[in-house]
Amino acid sequence: MFRIVRSTRNRRFFAVAAVSVIMSSAAFHSCVHQPYVMPVSQQTGDPDICFERDILPIFQSNCAKSGCHDAASHEEGYVLDNYANIRSKGIVPGNPAASKIYNSITIARGEGFMPRDAPALSAANVLLIKRWIQGGAIDSGACSTTGCDTNSFSYSGVIAPMMQQYCVGCHNSASAPGGSLMDHASVKNAAVSGSLIGDISHASGYNPMPQGGAKLLDCKITQVKKWVAAGAPND
Ligand code: HEC
Repeated sequence: MFRIVRSTRNRRFFAVAAVSVIMSSAAFHSCVHQPYVMPVSQQTGDPDICFERDILPIFQSNCAKSGCHDAASHEEGYVLDNYANIRSKGIVPGNPAASKIYNSITIARGEGFMPRDAPALSAANVLLIKRWIQGGAIDSGACSTTGCDTNSFSYSGVIAPMMQQYCVGCHNSASAPGGSLMDHASVKNAAVSGSLIGDISHASGYNPMPQGGAKLLDCKITQVKKWVAAGAPND
């Protein structure tokens, strides 16, 4: 007798439990929807952005350095030194807000903020990454030099943004190895010493820069050379 009562109770318990599991999973499904992923046919990219030229250097300078996400250190399995590695780590094409990497550079500094223990990416670089993801986060292949004009080489219009994009991930303070490239005075110092041009043109006897990254496009090296030849003005 006792046994029968117990088993009826159990059966009722299981029935209630099963119904509530079904209901809660229905509720769960109705609020947690899959993030929007841009259809492949629409992943044609942003016409102004070329991955190799505009996006990869930001990751190489800010993230793929020693102790962070380079091949030797790969914190949390994140190696951020080429397209396949970057793309496979939490990038949702067409949806920056759902992309883990984008979130880590835009949340308030604290748990999960990147780059950890270093200045935040510039607003311009965050925007580039956002536009790249919005366009489908594609690898655009070989980059044209469009957008680089050897006739313009002012500090504010060309040189400072170039340092921002390619260099200040490492050269972000006077105490950084190799010093700061954050302001005109420090970039001019490097220019006057000869190391700026020697390093970016990978001349022998110099330290090739960006360290560990691809050489800058010739057009950009020419811009720096012209700016230095003009006396490295703060124009
Ligand atoms: C991934 C980190 C990293 C990036 C990105 C980087 N550098 Fe460096 N840079 C270094 C380190 C480390 C040194 C110190 C080298 C040494 O002493 O061996 C250095 C040194 C320098 C120096 C000092 C002179 C010398 O050769 O020691 C200059 C100038 C320089 N870098 C320019 C640049 C420029 C310009 C860029 C961007 C186009 C750049 N760097 C990008 C890490 C970086």
